[in-house]
Amino acid sequence: MEATQATPVKYDMDVVRWFTIMAVVYLVVGTLVGVYIASELAWPFLNFDIPEITFGRLRPLHTNAVIFAFGGCTLMATGYYMVQRTGATKLWSNGLAWFTFWGWNLIIVLAVITLPLGITQSKEYAELEWPIDIMITIVWVAFGLNHIMTTAIRKTSHIYVSNWFTMGMIIMISYLHLVNSMAIPVSLTQSFSIFSGVQDAMIQWWWGHNAVGFYLTAGFLGIMYYFVPKQAGRPVFSYRLSVLHFWTLSFGYVWLGAHHLQYTALPDWTGSLGAAISLAMIIPSWGGAMNGMMTLSGAWDKLRTDYVLRFLVVSLAFYAMSTFEGPVMSIKTVNALSHYTDWTVGHVHSGALGWVAMVSMGAIYHMVMKLWNTKMYSDNLVNVHFWLATIGAVVYVVAMWVSGIMQGLMWRDYDEYGTLTYTFVESVSAMHPYYAMRAIGGMIYNLGAWIMLFNVVMTVRQATAARSVNTATANA
Ligand code: HEM
Ligand code: HEM
Repeated sequence: MEATQATPVKYDMDVVRWFTIMAVVYLVVGTLVGVYIASELAWPFLNFDIPEITFGRLRPLHTNAVIFAFGGCTLMATGYYMVQRTGATKLWSNGLAWFTFWGWNLIIVLAVITLPLGITQSKEYAELEWPIDIMITIVWVAFGLNHIMTTAIRKTSHIYVSNWFTMGMIIMISYLHLVNSMAIPVSLTQSFSIFSGVQDAMIQWWWGHNAVGFYLTAGFLGIMYYFVPKQAGRPVFSYRLSVLHFWTLSFGYVWLGAHHLQYTALPDWTGSLGAAISLAMIIPSWGGAMNGMMTLSGAWDKLRTDYVLRFLVVSLAFYAMSTFEGPVMSIKTVNALSHYTDWTVGHVHSGALGWVAMVSMGAIYHMVMKLWNTKMYSDNLVNVHFWLATIGAVVYVVAMWVSGIMQGLMWRDYDEYGTLTYTFVESVSAMHPYYAMRAIGGMIYNLGAWIMLFNVVMTVRQATAARSVNTATANA
């Protein structure tokens, strides 16, 4: 996977270090906001009648913080790390990488200010207003250019599959973001989408699902294909299968968006096409999950002592689970029950907490040890974090499955006279125990994130202190 060279390459890793640290900070913040909004749904007095902290304003702040702040910093840290190490070269431009670091963080600060103020385009996962959208385009394209040019100047003959996944993600997200964000500005803080009605819905979910498919899936699969073999100390089980995984995923995902719009004004066939391709996606997704798992064959015993590997393996189990659940939910008859309910939220978080965040945590622990050339401050705390994350995710997802299916069944229940058995309010009050359970699951998960932050900070401090002692001894 990596070139072995006579003279070691001096990589540009400072920017990777900062992206890594910020990813952990945003994990803590994003999940904390998640816990707060989950608590607001369970105990509504927490809205305190203050518009800026109501559920409606904080929900997009949560999704932007976890997806774009935590997920984005993780993708940029690992993207810059993997492209250098697999290509045995420095970055094409270290300056441009720092530009992406400051630019991305500025965008996050602007999101933190504008979303609670209610400044939004009201498009899911694309809420930020047009001036910020332009900044996102510039920073994202700079990231893409740097990644592609670093690949071009690589010293190895081969482009490792992780870089294909990262580049696929960068190209698709640039294109989706540009099309979906097209709007006519009326002021600095307000604009109107150039699409309307059914076209708007279709374009929105073409973006929405591909944000899942390319950003939350392809990008993190790139991470999986590099860090699972690295941490397990074994080559990827089947390299051919990984390349097949990349191409099938890239060609399949773009057709799925309409499964978010079953039984709407969209032509019926678009939903059927979305469902058919969704079902077909089980094959590449499970092929990829198995490929990751099988990379461990002959090394399963490592799981007893290697806590970082545990994160990676459990993330693959969640990846397999959510890519089975998603296709099932896209079937029209199942979607008739699941849509509008918490089942969707449960599916989202089995993908988000179990797959995206856990694979990121595994990769971040691995990188921290490599980047600061040290062991973790406490392996036991890594293990505690692993259990908190796993238990937190399971509690969250199970609560949402139960509440989602209950909601769906209550809403469609008729009595003998053909009237609805339950009022909507009755279904809301029936959700209370599960909302409380979800908030507790979230708290457990968030506690794990704080422990990770503490462990990472202590590891960096320990490594920096050791380096200054070594320098002092060398100078003495
Ligand atoms: C083959 C894989 C997958 C398929 C076919 C699929 C399918 C679906 C379906 C049918 C829905 C519900 C749509 C609705 O009724 O509104 C959904 C929602 C969602 N899925 Fe998946 N899913 C897959 C994997 C994943 C993964 C790995 C993630 C990672 C986080 C994920 C994240 C989401 C999100 C965020 C939503 C909610 C969108 C929204 O309404 O805001 N999915 N998915
Ligand atoms: C402590 C952990 C977390 C908690 C307590 C939490 C809580 C929540 C809550 C309460 C909602 C709103 C659900 C609703 O509208 O009914 C939500 C939505 C969402 N969260 Fe989280 N979250 C957490 C972590 C994450 C992470 C790590 C990610 C992504 C990597 C994520 C991605 C999302 C997405 C995509 C949605 C929108 C779902 C949809 O539209 O169906 N969350 N979260």
